[in-house]
Amino acid sequence: MSFCACRLSFLASVTMFQAAAKTLSASCQAVSFSIRHYCRKTPTKLRISEALSGAKLGENVKVQGWIRSVRRQKSNLFLHVNDGSSLQSLQIVAGSQLSDPLLTFGSAVEVTGVLKESPHQKQPFELEADQLHVAGECNPMDFPFKIKERHSLEYIRQFPHLRCRTNAFSSLLRIRSEATTAINSYFKENGFVQIHTPVITSNDCEGAGELFQVELLGSENEEGENFFSVPAFLTVSGQLHLEVMSGAFTRVYTFGPTFRAENSQSRRHLAEFYMVEAEVSFTQSLEDLTKVMEDLFKSATEHVLAHCAEDVDLFHKHVTPGHRDTLDVMMKRRFLVITYSEAIDILSRSSQKFAFPTNWGCDLQTEHEKYLVKHCGNIPVFVTDYPYDLKPFYARDNQDNPAHTAAAVDLLVPGVGELCGGSLREERLDLLRARLEEAGLDDTYSWYLDLRRFGSVPHGGFGLGFERYLQCILGVDNIKDVIPFPRFSNSCLL
Ligand code: 4AD
Repeated sequence: MSFCACRLSFLASVTMFQAAAKTLSASCQAVSFSIRHYCRKTPTKLRISEALSGAKLGENVKVQGWIRSVRRQKSNLFLHVNDGSSLQSLQIVAGSQLSDPLLTFGSAVEVTGVLKESPHQKQPFELEADQLHVAGECNPMDFPFKIKERHSLEYIRQFPHLRCRTNAFSSLLRIRSEATTAINSYFKENGFVQIHTPVITSNDCEGAGELFQVELLGSENEEGENFFSVPAFLTVSGQLHLEVMSGAFTRVYTFGPTFRAENSQSRRHLAEFYMVEAEVSFTQSLEDLTKVMEDLFKSATEHVLAHCAEDVDLFHKHVTPGHRDTLDVMMKRRFLVITYSEAIDILSRSSQKFAFPTNWGCDLQTEHEKYLVKHCGNIPVFVTDYPYDLKPFYARDNQDNPAHTAAAVDLLVPGVGELCGGSLREERLDLLRARLEEAGLDDTYSWYLDLRRFGSVPHGGFGLGFERYLQCILGVDNIKDVIPFPRFSNSCLL
């Protein structure tokens, strides 16, 4: 092809391209017009929290949720609707022609209308409804919660399937969710790798025998046949699995369900709870662990206070008044450190009568822990270096005399007592083997001894009870009020 012919055919293709582009652009305009037209007609679905922030002001929107209050006037109907996205409910204003007897406290509704600035001071925005649809009826006579009544945590606990509909419990669940994010963020920002430790395990990490055994249904008929060939249990701690991983990743953590068959109805024990556990390699002293515990507590709490201010306020103002001051002191002050021996000294010199003994070698009970925290000015306090014989096989021997202690630490906090338990781990093969042999566990834990054979380093870690953490920051007295579905002896509702 000559140069001229080539140029001509190029120009022809450009012209064709331009013509095609023009047609396309024209049809695009038609399409975009029809999309815009369509948008104007279809209401945008909004979360209540979005509506309350004034998103889509003046536009046609749709919200869905549950009625928290109903007020009928001659010409108007006022509703408050909540969908769990915030503590505040959205005010709906409708003409009385939209009034329906099924619009009752607790019923589910879908509302369409225009979002407007509100003339009332209490809320900046309200929804002027043009359509109200009752999606799910609720008979207010049978519903266990009553309009405008502030029910106690104890009362709503009787209805684990419905209590998320109350202000207090929905606030609690939002805080719980945000605290989970805060804890994960803390570990991410500090170079920890998250490990999913198993729920089913063949070890009893704590050696306390508080185990739920996992068996096949009806296995008792099969002459001892066992699904796993070995006895298996629900985990009491992910620590030993974390220790495996700390031998490769230096800093690891896990955050998951943990099970203890404690026959306890106490206000701080559950049969199923969530535990945050961390394990750190190349530690030099307990201080390496206490620093992580204090930083984790303060950073997670700051995050929760910043991201759930309204929900936390509901607790601090109406459920546990006065607790905010206690929390502020905890956040401002450095946590204290005392040894177990000093703690025993304080308890022995106290004029308070304790139900349990306070001599050296006795385990600290809740009453002792609470007394120690008060004695220290209601500031969290680390108690270190417990009697060697009180601690599980993994705790590092301090090899001290005459008091024989282990490098273990508990963090005690106001109102709750023990929040965290941890220790340096026995990394020395000969000492660990001797202790396991003494307990007749050297065969069971031969894999654990291997960790001390192949690149063993000083390391340690701790576990934080997540429900106790929530109790501590909110001032909630009973652990059953900070978990969605509490499990404890003689109770497994739902
Ligand atoms: O002190 P614990 O038993 O420590 C361990 O399990 C270690 N293996 C953890 C580790 O070092 N990785 O438990 C840790 C925390 C306690 O301080 C307490 O806050 C909480 O877990 N906890 C419970 N929370 C609710 N109900 C129970 N039955 C609990 N038992 C322990």
